[in-house]
Amino acid sequence: MALFSKGKNNNDDLVTAAKSLKIPKHIAIIMDGNGRWAKKRGMPRSFGHAAGSENFRRIAMFCKNIGLEYLTVYAFSTENWKRPADEVSGILDLLRKYLDEALDTMEKDHIRTRFLGDLSRLPADIVERMRKSEDISKKYEGFLVCICVNYGGRDDIVRAVKKLQSEGLAVSEENINSHLDTSGIPDPDICIRPSGEYRISNFLIWQSAYTEFYFTKTLFPDLSPIELVDIIKDFNNRSRRFGGI
Ligand code: FPP
Repeated sequence: MALFSKGKNNNDDLVTAAKSLKIPKHIAIIMDGNGRWAKKRGMPRSFGHAAGSENFRRIAMFCKNIGLEYLTVYAFSTENWKRPADEVSGILDLLRKYLDEALDTMEKDHIRTRFLGDLSRLPADIVERMRKSEDISKKYEGFLVCICVNYGGRDDIVRAVKKLQSEGLAVSEENINSHLDTSGIPDPDICIRPSGEYRISNFLIWQSAYTEFYFTKTLFPDLSPIELVDIIKDFNNRSRRFGGI
């Protein structure tokens, strides 16, 4: 079975309804609330991350079906290393599992993948799988899923500026843009933060200068395609002026 077909709720009518809306190019999601989702069920946090990982697949498949071009998810931040070692290794295991499945099915799904963040601190076997999936992705066009791992917005900017210094390039907006992890990817149109928290938590801080934010109390494992369509409807009613009038 294709990796992303595992997701539930890819209701054809909902896809049709979404397609009647103006679909943004790029949606970013902070996958927050997995721990609380598990706690509500009397389960360990790892159970919540596993549910989050499954929901990521469902949401990604839905986004592909409605014609979104870019989906970026925050899977692990530069600050998440502060969590207990077993939680960190549990998240890395889920990533490894996802990558193994993706490597098996990408040639069929044609869903391109890119990893954003400082990958140098990750286990070598995970980085190798990430690079393999990025290499396979180069053969295809269309929907791109960006997964942020050991990603921090501040770190992204610092690494970009260091690259400019080492290449002897001027520090300009254009040069910073082209040296960020997101180089070549348009800025997110919408950033969704589930779980009732109202902050950006070091996610895409440069890239979200004119992003529309959407906050929902829903915990990430429960964020459904139906709610996503509501969020896109809300986005359709926003007036984006980018500093103009
Ligand atoms: C935030 O919720 C979630 C994380 C730090 C981890 C997210 C990771 C996954 C969904 C799995 C791996 C990803 C992929 C793409 C396979 P939290 O734990 O802070 O929740 P809480 O605020 O309720 O405690």
